[in-house]
Amino acid sequence: MDIFEKILMNRGPLGQHAKQVHGYFTFPKLEGEIGARMKFRGKEKLVWSLNNYLGLANHPEVRRVDAEAAARFGLAAPMGARMMSGNSDYHEQLEAELSEFTHKEDTYLLNYGYQGMVSIIDALLTRHDIVIYDSESHACIIDGVRLHQGKRYTYHHNDINDLEKQLKRAQNLIDPKVGGLLVITEGVFGMRGTQGKLAEIAELKKKYDFRLLVDDAHGFGSMGPTGAGTGEAQGAQDGIDLYFSTFAKSMASIGAFISGDKQVIEFLKYNMRSQIFAKSLPMPLVLGDLKRLELLRNTPKMREDLWTIVDALQGGLRQRGFNIGETSTMVTPVFLGGSTNEAANLIIDLRENFDIFCSVVVYPVVPKDVIMIRLIPTAAHSLADVEETLSAFSNISVKLKDKKYELVSMPTL
Ligand SMILES: Cc1ncc(COP(=O)(O)O)c(C=O)c1O
Repeated sequence: MDIFEKILMNRGPLGQHAKQVHGYFTFPKLEGEIGARMKFRGKEKLVWSLNNYLGLANHPEVRRVDAEAAARFGLAAPMGARMMSGNSDYHEQLEAELSEFTHKEDTYLLNYGYQGMVSIIDALLTRHDIVIYDSESHACIIDGVRLHQGKRYTYHHNDINDLEKQLKRAQNLIDPKVGGLLVITEGVFGMRGTQGKLAEIAELKKKYDFRLLVDDAHGFGSMGPTGAGTGEAQGAQDGIDLYFSTFAKSMASIGAFISGDKQVIEFLKYNMRSQIFAKSLPMPLVLGDLKRLELLRNTPKMREDLWTIVDALQGGLRQRGFNIGETSTMVTPVFLGGSTNEAANLIIDLRENFDIFCSVVVYPVVPKDVIMIRLIPTAAHSLADVEETLSAFSNISVKLKDKKYELVSMPTL
């Protein structure tokens, strides 16, 4: 069969709805300066769906350095992959500063978090190794594991007993002369806001021989007394063998990094295909990331502001009887009961009549009768924004209970 004919018949789990949802639920355009209030379809909305945790995206210093670095270097420099011709003092300076901040010996910059994680897993493992990972892991972990030619096991999300069961099973199967064990989890799970049980997992190293890789995309900058992440928050940073984060969340930029022991980072530098065969990070991004890291480290107020908003939002939702699951981080899910049709109408009501823009997750990511709205508080929000949102949520939940969203079928957007 012709490949194109086939894909015309099967558009994929999300793509099948593209005609009804494109431009509104998917691929929406948020315009204007990144912040709590942005324009959607020409009208200002209160936005709760950007991972700009510290509000750095629009910090005047960040904007200045981004612009000056672009004017000085352009977007091309340095040309080529790091290994061949694309290295610079600035890349190495950013790596040194990240190592110091994350309390690791060395660091390697990555062009993107997703690609980076896939490639780290690919580089680290041979077919003799066994990988064990949390069942709710991000796609970058799952796709990295797809490249692995040896055995792989998942454990139920954050279930330490199940992890131990998998470790026992793996240890019995491994040939210790050629194979080892890698456990992968996340610092903060970005959908439900739970924390990976890093301290408990690290503790298991006393009983089992494995290395721990942590994706702390959401925790870096937001968690821990200095913002160094979820490992720091749990006093478990030393137990993390490889610490990974993207710059796409708190740092409000592009790129990522992996930190760990010197010898391991050197191995990754010479073996990660995503970096060896791709152009290095452009200079304006590296200089912009240096400025962001400086602000992140030296301006604790941004993190304090974030947590003020988190506490007000989550406290207010709980007080009003909303189910926000088991979050212990900034990520704020709100679980409501209802069908996919009701979810769509509820979100349209929130956007059009309350001017609140947030993301929604429905079946098959959550069970059929569950609507999960995900709110991302940031330092750029105000307590007035929180109050406005709480009152809107009280309103929509009454309408949902009164079956108001059931009656209408989804309008043409
Ligand atoms: C947990 C996690 N890991 C990795 C990534 C990918 O990072 P990037 O956007 O830099 O590719 C994301 C999303 O951005 C994420 O949420």
